[in-house]
Order: sequence, then C-alpha cells, then structure tokens
Amino acid sequence: MAPSLLAGKTAVVTGASSGIGKALTHALAAEGVRVAMIGRDAGRLERAAAGLGAEATAPWTCDVRDDAQVRETVAGIEAAWGQIDILANCAGVYLAAALPELTNEQWDDLWRTNVSGTLFPTRAVLPGMLARGYGFIVVLSSVAAHRSFANMTGYGATKHAVTGFARALTNEVRQEGVRVVTVLSGPVDTPLWDGKSTPLERADMLTPAEVARAIIHAMTVSDKQVLEEVLLLPQAGVYH
Ligand SMILES: NC(=O)c1ccc[n+]([C@@H]2O[C@H](COP(=O)([O-])OP(=O)(O)OC[C@H]3O[C@@H](n4cnc5c(N)ncnc54)[C@H](OP(=O)(O)O)[C@@H]3O)[C@@H](O)[C@H]2O)c1
Repeated sequence: MAPSLLAGKTAVVTGASSGIGKALTHALAAEGVRVAMIGRDAGRLERAAAGLGAEATAPWTCDVRDDAQVRETVAGIEAAWGQIDILANCAGVYLAAALPELTNEQWDDLWRTNVSGTLFPTRAVLPGMLARGYGFIVVLSSVAAHRSFANMTGYGATKHAVTGFARALTNEVRQEGVRVVTVLSGPVDTPLWDGKSTPLERADMLTPAEVARAIIHAMTVSDKQVLEEVLLLPQAGVYH
C-alpha cells in the first residue's frame, strides 16, 4: 500500500482530549502524523493519548479562548517540532437555550470558545504554513450552520460565524498552498451531549471515529484537490 499523503506531517488538534478531537488524534496518528494535543486539562489529554506513544503525540495545556496562551503554545510546538502542517480546530462548547433564558455569560463563552477559539489558533499557525506553501486548516462547524434549529440562537450563530470565517479564509489561502476543510457535522455521540437533551438517540448519532475518517478523507483525496466542505449526517436524520 502507498504511504499516506499525510505521513511524516505534524498536526495540532485543539479539543484533543475528548470526542471528535480525540478520535481525529488517533486517526492522524494512524496515518503517520505526529499530533500536538491541545486542551485545558493535562490529565484528560494524557488519558486521550493512551496507546499512541510519546513519539506520536505531545500534550499541550492551553485555553483556546486566550490569544496570548495560544500564541505561546504554537510557538512552543514550532520550536519543538520545526513546523506545523495541519491544524484541526476541534475545541468547542455546546448549549441549547430558549432565547429569553440565554445569558450574556453563556453567549460570550460560546463565542469566545467556538469563534475566537478558532480564530486564535488559525491565525497563529498560518504564517508558517504560508511561508512553506503547505498546510491544512480544519474547522469543526455543524449542521446547525447549514440548517437552523430552535433553541440554538447562540450555538447556531457561532457555527454560522466559523463557517463564514472558513469560507473567506479558503479563498484567501487556497492559491498559497493552504487548504481549509470545513466540517458541517450532524450529531455525534460524544461527551458534549452528557447531561443534555439530545435530538436523537445517542446510538443513532454519528461516531467520533466516523467524523475523523471523513476529515482524513477530505485531506487525502489528492495533492491537487481541495475538498472544502463536508456535510456529514447520520442515516437516522436530524431533528425530524
Ligand atoms: N458532538 C456533536 O454532536 C457535534 C456536532 C457538530 C459539531 N460539533 C463540534 O465539534 C467540536 C468538538 O465537539 P465534541 O463533540 O468532540 O465535544 P467534546 O467531546 O465535549 O470535546 C470538546 C473538547 O474541547 C475542549 N475544549 C473546550 N473548551 C476549551 C477551551 N477553552 N480551550 C481548549 N480546549 C477546550 C475540551 O477539553 P477541556 O474541556 O478539557 O479543555 C474537549 O477536549 C465542537 O466545536 C462542536 O461544536 C459537535
């Protein structure tokens, strides 16, 4: 079998301690990619890396809402590994609330995590990618940016925002060799849903491994193509 197009590359995965980011870390490692795993909790990162080995991954504790921390972390990873070829923005938070109940604190945290938490890492890694003329930026959006759902004014607005961010960025960097992959995913069975009401049975949701596989597919179609957007839904549908 030919080696993966990604073999030997380096990646940063935010939100790598859980759910989609954790599954993507394992899928990237299987392609021969070294992954810097970002999350706020060192213990969770360590547990998520179980079975991958110290040469395949490194934990970096960092809050993606904090631009200075993100810059420092990216600089540290670049100093340790020389370069960053892939950034997957998987850190994110979810909440559903009827608009009268949505607080300013909830609104701000959704925006700081989902939107600024995508901007800060992307802006920090981009100069190196542009200088080398190679890179992938993965943005975890949601079907909530493709359709619009009740009680998701806050969450849905952040996912429309990151989709718009990614669509503009892709036109800015495509010809410089940097590819932007936006994933509009339906519900995925991850800890994001713990303690929350769900749109369908968790067993009917996508699995994190399925989402990770779609992302790897988008990045490995060929060296000459850009699979820019992936709308991935569970067979059971969404919010019927
Ligand atoms: N699950 C779904 O149904 C679904 C569907 C569509 C899109 N998505 C999107 O996919 C992304 C990942 O979701 P998931 O389901 O994998 O969620 P998850 O299992 O709850 O994982 C979220 C990850 O983000 C990290 N994180 C949260 N806030 C952070 C911060 N301020 N700084 C650094 N890391 C932070 C968490 O680690 P710590 O809390 O330890 O820092 C955790 O590793 C999110 O953007 C979500 O909106 C999810």
